[in-house]
Amino acid sequence: MSKEESKKLFIQTLGCQMNDTDSQHIAAELKKYKDYDKTENIEDADLIIINTCSVREKPVQKLFSEIGQFNIKKKDGAKIGVCGCTASHLGNDIIKRAPYVDFVVGARNISKIKDVVDIKGAVEISIDNDESTYEFAPAKTNKYRASVNISIGCDKKCTYCIVPNTRGEEISIPPEMIVEQVKKAVDDGAVEVMLLGQNVNSYGRRFSDGRAKYSFTKLLQDVSKIENLQRIRFTSPHPLHMDDEFIEEFAKNPKISKCIHMPLQSGSTEILRAMKRGYTKEWFLNRAKKLRDLVPNLRITTDIIVAFPGETQKDFEDTLDVVNQVKFDQIFNFKYSPRPETEALKLEHLEIEDKIGSARLTELIELHKRYLEDHMPKLIGTTVTILVESLKPNSEISGYTDNYLQVFAKGSDELLGKFVDVKVTDVTRTALKGEIVK
Ligand code: SAH
Ligand code: SF4
Ligand code: F3S
Repeated sequence: MSKEESKKLFIQTLGCQMNDTDSQHIAAELKKYKDYDKTENIEDADLIIINTCSVREKPVQKLFSEIGQFNIKKKDGAKIGVCGCTASHLGNDIIKRAPYVDFVVGARNISKIKDVVDIKGAVEISIDNDESTYEFAPAKTNKYRASVNISIGCDKKCTYCIVPNTRGEEISIPPEMIVEQVKKAVDDGAVEVMLLGQNVNSYGRRFSDGRAKYSFTKLLQDVSKIENLQRIRFTSPHPLHMDDEFIEEFAKNPKISKCIHMPLQSGSTEILRAMKRGYTKEWFLNRAKKLRDLVPNLRITTDIIVAFPGETQKDFEDTLDVVNQVKFDQIFNFKYSPRPETEALKLEHLEIEDKIGSARLTELIELHKRYLEDHMPKLIGTTVTILVESLKPNSEISGYTDNYLQVFAKGSDELLGKFVDVKVTDVTRTALKGEIVK
């Protein structure tokens, strides 16, 4: 194939932000070693990759219909690869069930992509693979934002969660490698970085070279010293590891975006124990209060699972109580989904009727909707500062505030990448509209 007609890669990503970053790494590796360019058009692709998620059952069911479609749409000779968490846990079964799949690469084996891409039937899913010091080509979600992994795997054993089985044990990436990656991204125009790990604030407990422990707070301090980097974000922190030192650094470090994800999962201490989350309702409320006390304009986002096996009406009311007290700014709600090889499967006999699960989910969503409808209009008339990230053809710019709320306003391309002040004139439940004042 001549240089002019380089090969084309179509990649579809499901799941979390780590999967997004993995997809960017896959594309970068395939560009570097195999000269693939990305295409948005599946019919043009020489290689079609789906980067999968197994955290709930639905996306896994969808996988086989999705790759079936790829097989129908693909051009003659195009290859299909399945990567990510479902690849890790189903492995060779994917090829058995869908023989037209050319290769399978697990979520902990992304660096192997260049080796397997030309091997029909290859399956790379070793859970012991250590990619914590592999130098991936940089990943960037847009011109101004970079995503940098700070650890691989997860050492928690939340009883509902499949992630430790798909991503393996937690190993931290050396701090100097992280700082180097962020510096490179900043030299390349990024002003914001997202530090990523399944459990970022347990950072530094184990490195593959056996060096001394480090802490997430120290890492935040290192990264914030990088000149021209303006904003630091991270996800996901674990409420259990939100110690005072961390909260105080979060509050006082001006580069750290004042939006924090505090995955609650349940407001009931009993259910939290059954989930093995390691904290109580009171601990969670105490951490949220300390954060709110120290950080004006803080936005808190969360994940909640309803209908975990054994969840009583009283347990669910505890969750509603925490929602009412903490006043989350965004909630990602999920109905419990039993996952293979997880400890919660043993609680099958306590499973909650689907009808009840759905009703609880609706109640939670409605409660939060009412809160946002009351809260958001209070922002009308205030002035917020945003980093302008995109411009639509109708001259509408959009960007995010320091506490990560999306804002729309009329503007022009010379504002891209700049910080501007916007006076808020209108709101929806999830975003602001306004006029640029500076
Ligand atoms: N490591 C991150 C993200 C884990 S997966 C964290 O701990 O925050 C993202 C979310 O999916 C979880 O926070 C949880 O709310 C949800 N989730 C995980 N397993 C689930 C299951 N079996 N059923 C329903 N939701 C689940
Ligand atoms: Fe899953 Fe818990 Fe690890 Fe998050 S911390 S990835 S929910 S096991
Ligand atoms: Fe899904 Fe794996 Fe992320 S299961 S949520 S893609 S860690």
